Amino acid sequence: METIEREIVAMPRIGDKAPKFQAVTTQGNINFPSDFTNSWIILFSHPADFTPVCTSEFMTFAKREQEFLKLNCQLVGLSIDGLYSHIAWLRTIKEKIEFKGMKDIEVKFPLIEDITMEIANKYGMIQLGESSTKAVRAVFFINPHGIIRAIIYYLLSLGRNFDELKRALIAMQTADAYNIATLADWQPGEDVIVPPAGSCGVAKDRMETEEEGVECYDWFFCTKKLSLEQVNHPPKIK
Ligand code: BEZ
Repeated sequence: METIEREIVAMPRIGDKAPKFQAVTTQGNINFPSDFTNSWIILFSHPADFTPVCTSEFMTFAKREQEFLKLNCQLVGLSIDGLYSHIAWLRTIKEKIEFKGMKDIEVKFPLIEDITMEIANKYGMIQLGESSTKAVRAVFFINPHGIIRAIIYYLLSLGRNFDELKRALIAMQTADAYNIATLADWQPGEDVIVPPAGSCGVAKDRMETEEEGVECYDWFFCTKKLSLEQVNHPPKIK
């Protein structure tokens, strides 16, 4: 098997502060993440403007932007193309592309130009085994304190699932608000795990005391109900 030798590049990880940068975008200059304080951010990269998978992703994200804004989450895109390419591509999307019932789609969230790849490299979006000239499909979920909470990477050929991005965002916000964890394939309104992973001793006590509303499958696996209403109206976190 061929081995590829390459320099090891430090990449931000879950729990790290989101690396700061200044950038030129289709919505003007930004200071990241400070311009987005008090909000969650999804910072995502795409390989290139004027490509089909990216076009379908941008149309989908732009169409659904309001759903993310309602969840207090702002979207910020990036590719290692220049501003004029971004502007021309977004104009083409708006004026010419009709796809899956979507048309006249205006991308209102900022799209960062990163010709120098400085930001893409800072965020580990250039993965040399995949491409040295295009960013992979990275998604960084950053909380209102500027901390990276989740990262997803896809290769170039795989379009993202925006229902999953939304589900992950709601799950993280719910876990923070109620100190719970969410199960495989969890959807808002379904039972949640108590206490959060890693505190099994408490779960053991729970099983013994048969706390109301808590159902235990074994000493390490207890769930409780959390209504859609509670998920939709979480208590404010300080
Ligand atoms: C696309 O978005 O269609 C794409 C971009 C780069 C490589 C492969 C596909």
